[in-house]
Amino acid sequence: MQKKNLLLFTPGPLQVSERVLEALRNGNLMHREEAFSALFSNLQSKLLNAFEVNEEYAACLFTSTGRGINEAMVAPFAKNRKLAVITNGAWGTDLLQIARLHGQNVMELKFSEKEAVEPGQVAEFLKQNPQIDSLALVHQETRTGILNPLEKIASAAAANGVTLLVDAMSSIIAEETNFQKLGVAFFTCGSTKGLRSIPGIGIICGKKEEFEKLSRFVPTSHYFDIFSEYESQVKNKKMRFAQPTPIFAALNESLSELLEEGLQQRRESISQRTADFRNWAVSNGIEIDGVASTLGHVITNFKLPSKIKYSVFSHELQKLGIYLLYGGEKDENTFQVSFFGAFSENDIAFLKKTLISILK
Ligand SMILES: Cc1ncc(COP(=O)(O)O)c(C=O)c1O
Repeated sequence: MQKKNLLLFTPGPLQVSERVLEALRNGNLMHREEAFSALFSNLQSKLLNAFEVNEEYAACLFTSTGRGINEAMVAPFAKNRKLAVITNGAWGTDLLQIARLHGQNVMELKFSEKEAVEPGQVAEFLKQNPQIDSLALVHQETRTGILNPLEKIASAAAANGVTLLVDAMSSIIAEETNFQKLGVAFFTCGSTKGLRSIPGIGIICGKKEEFEKLSRFVPTSHYFDIFSEYESQVKNKKMRFAQPTPIFAALNESLSELLEEGLQQRRESISQRTADFRNWAVSNGIEIDGVASTLGHVITNFKLPSKIKYSVFSHELQKLGIYLLYGGEKDENTFQVSFFGAFSENDIAFLKKTLISILK
């Protein structure tokens, strides 16, 4: 008997539409056949539309989850330039650790995990450390839902002539990003979260002139060499290596779905669902864990009543058909709800009903 999948109110893997699953089922192409080349070039131009950047930028795709593509982005800067990483949570710390593997002198500008990055301190840090020529940060910390104030951080970077590298894993699509206007050199994301597809593709989007500059750097990896892949994908319109084509077909379909719906419409619908759910939770005595003004519009952590621990709560939820993450790794006192996925109104009503039945 076929098992019904859990409803995933998670940042990724997440709930994808039937249409995306159908594309996945039909996507077993040969990666050198013409149909895949056409799909690939279609995919690249749809990505630029979805990211709201023009031809000044290019998007390169890798078979990888988020960490892999983050490594591809920061490693050349950690090895060849003077990089600093801003941290205010688990994913910033992860980015720092990855960078330090490639360059021991990578600096850290650390903030509390409970607060958004403070742009004034970034400006001061860059003034005090004029040797720093590149700066990496996570736009939205997925574990806490804190959205960092990128606009002001980007202007501090620009004022100091610093190249900005952004992990946009959980901000892309769900939040207003304006990366081109802000002059972001490179940003990364994966095929789940805002792109609402199956995991397995890591995407780096950057200014073409910044990709070109990488030709002067010592490569840090054969597979994750973003300059060679840029040359191949953007100039020669093909990927260097064999690819799992079904996940590319799925992403291509989820982008069609997104662009048909409209970026603004998708963003508003995510934001509305989040706001409604926060209001519903608070009115049912479920407290938000975090400072509301620092949160973005898609992820929320909530406090569990003291009588129930996350591991028990999660087990009960899974039995009833839902998966929710913890608010922090090994944190038994919180849970997280995010609205990246393709949910029906019935799914959301079922989530509320199930939460009431477990938490009552
Ligand atoms: C902000 C952020 N960066 C990096 C990652 C790592 O991505 P992955 O788990 O796909 O390797 C995640 C994962 O959720 C994330 O939320």
